[in-house]
Formats: sequence, structure tokens, C-alpha cells
Amino acid sequence: MSDSAPHLRLGTCDYPEHVPEDRWAAYARGQRELGLTFVRVAEFAWSRMEPRPGEYDWAWLDRAVEAYHAQGLRVVLCTPTATPPAWLIRAHPDILPHDAQGRVREFGSRRHYDFASPVFREHSRRITRALAERYGEHPAVAGWQTDNEFGCHGTARSYGGASAAAFPGWLRQKYGTLDALNEAWGNVFWSMEYGDWEEIRPPALTVTEPNPSHVLDYARFSSDLIRDFQAEQVALLRELSPGRFVTHNFMIFESGFDHYAVARGLDFVTWDNYPTGMLEFFAPPGVGEALKTRYARTGHPDLVGFNHDLYRGLLKGHGGWEAETGKTQPHTPGFWVMEQQCGQVNWAPANPLPADGAVGLWTAQAWAHGADVVSYFRWRAATMAQEVMHSGLLRHDETPDRGHAEVAGLDLGSFPLGEVPARVALLHDYESLWLYDQQPHSAALSYWAQTVAYYSALRSLGVDVDVVSADADLGGYAVAVAPAVTLVPPERAARWQAAVEGDGLRLVCGPRTAFRTPGGQTWAQGQFGRLSELVGARLLNYDSLRPGLEQAVGGGYAAQFWAESYRLAGAQATHRYQGGPLDGQPAVIRHGPVTVIGAHSEALIRDVLRDVLEQAGVATSDLPDGLRLSRRAGVTLVQNWTGENVAWGGRTLGPVSFEVRAEG
Ligand code: GAL
Repeated sequence: MSDSAPHLRLGTCDYPEHVPEDRWAAYARGQRELGLTFVRVAEFAWSRMEPRPGEYDWAWLDRAVEAYHAQGLRVVLCTPTATPPAWLIRAHPDILPHDAQGRVREFGSRRHYDFASPVFREHSRRITRALAERYGEHPAVAGWQTDNEFGCHGTARSYGGASAAAFPGWLRQKYGTLDALNEAWGNVFWSMEYGDWEEIRPPALTVTEPNPSHVLDYARFSSDLIRDFQAEQVALLRELSPGRFVTHNFMIFESGFDHYAVARGLDFVTWDNYPTGMLEFFAPPGVGEALKTRYARTGHPDLVGFNHDLYRGLLKGHGGWEAETGKTQPHTPGFWVMEQQCGQVNWAPANPLPADGAVGLWTAQAWAHGADVVSYFRWRAATMAQEVMHSGLLRHDETPDRGHAEVAGLDLGSFPLGEVPARVALLHDYESLWLYDQQPHSAALSYWAQTVAYYSALRSLGVDVDVVSADADLGGYAVAVAPAVTLVPPERAARWQAAVEGDGLRLVCGPRTAFRTPGGQTWAQGQFGRLSELVGARLLNYDSLRPGLEQAVGGGYAAQFWAESYRLAGAQATHRYQGGPLDGQPAVIRHGPVTVIGAHSEALIRDVLRDVLEQAGVATSDLPDGLRLSRRAGVTLVQNWTGENVAWGGRTLGPVSFEVRAEG
């Protein structure tokens, strides 16, 4: 493969403000010598950019940017709004957010602001403008990152202060009248009806659970705030920094806002990939201790792969991306990993050293799932403050750490850019997530747990998957899988129906699909609402199973956590429950190209999916445990995520290793 063909490029996150200036030139040189292209800087440097109100100090940042520029590195600059400085908070304490217990979240770490605060919005625009005026056209500046990890540390929603004050106005605009709101939320239940907009508070601190419709609208309202907050920065950056990209670094399994809405208007998406921390800290319920121990030094391939595919898909299948950004990409929008773990993290209950080979494997997997750039967090381990236990490419003493050697050994020319050829779409929806997790009904089966179970089944069958919005254009896919899309408004139902009936799409739905109305209630005619005809059935019973309580399904399967059954109206039952309260009732149904799996059983899900994929002409392979295949640009990345040798395709892969193979 020629080295000049476009291929994966690398970067790092660096913090010149954390080290003496006499280190800057050496760091930039070291970054270039390691083969890096990009350096992301300044996302938390507000107190150095503006040490006192209105007094900007750009001199240090000018020299830092010059140090990278002198080595030919491309700089990704960030708006520093994740860390409002102490003087700003002192002058305007009402910028601070409130937690769900109604307490003020204080200054002293980061992300201490309420997206609704008009004062903070003004300061966000002011610092963005000042920064973009200074560096917008600097030749070293390749592009911009807005803020840092929206929603991190549970900050997507504030439950008091500015958000509480703004919520009634948002509702008024949405509903027009209180009658409409009371109706939409079903407020007659428990006498929750409102007679004045100002009576409405955030859904927190209620005696028992708040009304799910109230929660759903609060999530929508908070999500809109993040979208609008970012849009103000994006507009300024586009005006003052023409030709540069604008992106945001999204977070592992972040649930607090609608990422599709927040990503629109960005040139491409980036996300922050910490595979071992993810397994320890963000793994959905149901991922047991044995699995966590087995994959402790690599993370689990499907948790990482799911996030890659989710973030690759944020801008996919949404009409209007080109028009909004005025851009086209060499291939439909790729993504970056803005922060890639390259040693141990500091924020999980246990933070094991990655296995030898893990940093290379993570980098290769990111590329194979569509990343155009992988940027390591961070250049040198911090010697101060909250993250001293976190590693970087360099140790505290500036000697190269283990990850550095792995990065140095990568053959970037073997990672060509190009399309990920997925023929399977996994449908995802944040509103469904909010409803699911507000009323899980079976604590072990959160939205992510159910969604990742289907994803993992697909990956274990060796197929590539696009995770896309439940409203994405489904043209070109052979199979769409909707594991947990519980909210299916009539327009969504119509779109799915057209794709199935018009384009020959096969659709597989998990339990609780189309159970909810857009207001968060249930359909008066029952599940599947407007989809009933397409599915050829209606819901009969649902059963929430405590851990250890199983419901048998014919064919030797056992449902865990959830079992629902159907009344057939055209569909056929392919599997029925055996024994227990659902004895004899349909557990899996098929209506032509539409299949619904009502029982949660990993083996059953995998077998049904294999069957549907084969019917759709999508080749499957039953992969050995810990082996994964990912295809991009006409080649296949074969990955061994285990600590043992694994044979595949006539060759053996060593522990924690990968190969790029020419076969599809
Ligand atoms: C990310 C964050 C970084 C750093 C990193 C440590 O979530 O964006 O600033 O804190 O985690 O792993």
C-alpha cells in the first residue's frame, strides 16, 4: 500500500500551561518525531487566557502555538468554556448549576455552569469571539473543538437556578396552553394539573418518582439548551475562522442530551475513547464481574466498537449536513478520536495497566470503525491536581511510557481512509433512552444494556454495523435492528414502513418497541401503536424477571430480565414461551420482513439475527470469543482482544493483536 494514499493520522492532547515554557519546543519536537500531525490545546485554559475580567493574555498562547507551528504540527484550539474562572463565578454565582438534590455544584473542578444562564451565555460568546479573533486565521490552526465533553460528570441537566427559571417559557412555547400541557403529560393522574406556568419546576426532589412525561420534556429542554449553547460558539467560529473545521469531543455512552441535534452543524464528530475505564465505569448493568476481569486490560471490543459506530453515525443519514456546513468530505463524514487512552486512566474503581499491544489494537480498531484521526490523551502525565494518577505518552519524568513505544511502532500506511461498508443499521434514539431509563421496570435492562446486547450479537456474527438515528435514511441497508426504540411517533412508523415495503428492508425489533407516544404515555390501542399493521401483532403480556428468575422459551432458550408476548394479527410465532405465566404465548414473531424478539436471551437474539441476516444475503461468521472483524476501505481488520492465541482464517493471532488482511 502506498504511503502517500490518505491514511490514518495521529495527534495528542497537550497542556503547555501545565509545564514551564522551556519544555514547549522539546515537546513539539517529540510530537513530530513520533509522527503526530495534530495537537489539541487550551480547552481548560480560560484562567490563563483572561486572568482578570476583560484582561486577555494571549502572549503565552501565541508562543505555544508558534512552538507547534515551528514543528509543522496542526493545532486544534478549543473554546475554554468547560472551566469558567473563579473571578467570573464570584461575580456571577448564579452561573453555577444545581444537582438533582437541589444543591449548588460549586467552583473547584470543571463543568460548573448552567447552560441556561444568560450571563454565562454572554461570557461564552465573548471568550469565543476573543479567541477566534486572535487565532481564527493563524496558519497553524486546523480547526476548533467547542467546550469539552458536554454532559461529563452529570452536567447535561441543571435542576435549579437558570434552568429552572427558563423551563416554563420553553414549555409555553411548545404547548401554547396549560390545558395542552396537562393533557400531554396526563397530569390528572395524582392531581398534578397546573393552573399557572410558573408552578412548573424541574422534575427533581419529588416525593416519589416524577411523571415520566415531565422528565421527558425536561430532558428535551436541557438538550435544546446544549444545542443552542454550542450553536452560538459555532456561528462565531465560522465567521472568524473561515476554512477551519469545528467539532466537539463527545463522551462514552453519554445519555444526557440528543447527540444528533448537537452534532448537526459540526464538520465532523469526535469522541473520547477510554476502553479500560469504559468497562469498569460505564459498562451497562448486566456486564458481569467475570467479563470485566477477563477484559480488564483491553476493555471489551463491543463496548468500544459500539461507541465508535455510534459516533461515526451521528452525522450519517441526516439530510442537510452538507448544506449546513458547506462541506463535503472524501467519504461521508468520518470522525476522530479526540482523546485516546494510551496508558492507565484515573477515574474508574480500578485502573489496570493496559496489556502489551492494547494501544496499537485500540488505534487500529478506531481506524477500522471509521476514524480518520486518533489523538492520544495526553502528551505528558500531569504532575499536578486531579489527574496525577493518569498516564500519558510520556511519564511524569518525561521518559516515554509504554504507549509511546506502541504508537511509534504503528504502520500508518496500512490504515487507508475510506468507507465502512455496513449493510446493517442499528437504530438509536435518545428520547427512547430517557423514557427507558426513567422507568426501566427491570433494573438490569437499561436502554444501553439492551441496545449493546443486540449490537454485540451482530458483532459476534462478524457483521459491520452503522449505529444511526431511528429517523435516519435507511436506503441501502439490508437489515435495520431497533433493539430499544420505545418511542415511535407516527412519522417514524411511516418511514420504517416505507423502507420495509418500498425498499425491501428487513426490520428486527426488540421488546418494548413502539410502546410509547411522543408525550411519553402508552398508545391507547396498545403496543405497537401505528406500527401494529407492519408488525402484524399487538402486545399481550410483559414480564419483568429478577436476576436468577428465568422464563423458558422453546428451542432451549431462557429469557432473563424481560419477556413479553404477543397477540397475533397476521404475524407467525417462530418461538413460544414454555411454562410460567406466559406458557404457550408467542415470544418471537415474524410478519414477512419484520421480526420482533420479545424475550431477552443473548443466545436467542443471536440465533434470530443470524437467520434474518442470512435471509437478507448478509454473510455471517460465528466468531471465536474475543475475536472481532471490522472492514474499511476494502480491507479487513482481524482483532484478537484476548490474552490467548486465537486462530482465524487459517492463521493464528497472538494475544492482544491485530492484522490488516486483504480479504473482505
Ligand atoms: C476525559 C476528559 C479529559 C480528561 C480525561 C481523563 O473525560 O475530557 O479532560 O479528564 O477524561 O481520562
